[in-house]
Amino acid sequence: MRLDKFISNCGAATRSEVKKLVKNGSVTVNGAIAKKPDIKIDENKDVVCVSGAELNYREFVYLMLNKPKGYISATEDKHYPVVTELVPEEYAHYNVFPVGRLDIDTEGLLLLTNDGQFDHYMTSPKKNIYKRYFARLDRPAEDEDIEIFKNGMKFKEFTAKSARLEITENPAEVYIEIAEGKFHQVKRMCERVGKNVIYLKRVAIGSLPLDESLEKGKVRPLTEDEMRLLGVYP
Ligand code: URA
Repeated sequence: MRLDKFISNCGAATRSEVKKLVKNGSVTVNGAIAKKPDIKIDENKDVVCVSGAELNYREFVYLMLNKPKGYISATEDKHYPVVTELVPEEYAHYNVFPVGRLDIDTEGLLLLTNDGQFDHYMTSPKKNIYKRYFARLDRPAEDEDIEIFKNGMKFKEFTAKSARLEITENPAEVYIEIAEGKFHQVKRMCERVGKNVIYLKRVAIGSLPLDESLEKGKVRPLTEDEMRLLGVYP
């Protein structure tokens, strides 16, 4: 990998800043002052220091956001704030994007990454990664709804696979697990059984639960244990 790419991926400087840093002798590779920003280095072996501080390389980041209402699951939008605005400055250079989508009024667990393969894996309906939601309905759910969810549902543009509906002690509060993430899927499935969703929060993706201690609107990197839960091996 080129030295300037390595340094910018580490978040230590932008590519144009790297040029200046190299010029004034602030960058060393294995103890020797680097002469040019475009030299090739081995990111797994070479020790790169900027102004004496060693850099640790990471190509991909995996972040957890506790999404608040009012944000669009996108990287830019003309009319509304977007979830990437909530990403702290230290991750800005990774250019993360949301993994799948939550509606503007849905809260809870949203992952952000710059790893396209991971995104594809997590959002592919073929992988059967269930997404778990807590929903508050305008009417109590009924036992027969459980079977209707279990049988899957046909919609105009797709067929929802078998979904799990769990009714809590308060029957207007339910947990729903779906394997896909089609547009307004949970809301549409609830409408099919005659209920409107008045509050929706994603509480887990596969085996990964939302960290309930993460405040709404806050972002943090996934821990290594959490990444393993999702099948990513750091
Ligand atoms: N289903 C919905 O209806 N909305 C979401 O935000 C996610 C799933």
